[in-house]
Amino acid sequence: MAYVVTDPCIQCKHTNCAAVCPVDAFREGPNFLVIDPFECIDCDACVAECPEEAIYPDDEVPMEWEDYIALNEQLSEEWADHVINQAKEELPNVDQWSGKENKREHLIESWKEKPV
Ligand code: F3S
Repeated sequence: MAYVVTDPCIQCKHTNCAAVCPVDAFREGPNFLVIDPFECIDCDACVAECPEEAIYPDDEVPMEWEDYIALNEQLSEEWADHVINQAKEELPNVDQWSGKENKREHLIESWKEKPV
């Protein structure tokens, strides 16, 4: 089992989650974080830290976000050089995006693109 970051994180990226991870399992993208499922030790520490309630155990991910399980694994490989283990400023337009649903189309997968 591993924990999974889902849709509510997109365009918010509060990063409180990464600061409490004891094994540095978080990887950072331009406007989203993921958890490397091979690093996660299922400690549960990150879940309560996320104000967007974006993090779930993989067997409790809401049905509409099940693709985020594979996405976390895929992007944790692509962002392997972007380990994040401390909190930083959330994204500047967080107030505009917090609580919005279905943000998948706004996910930026490449560091070559800038956050919007
Ligand atoms: Fe994202 Fe929540 Fe962490 S918004 S960066 S999963 S604290």
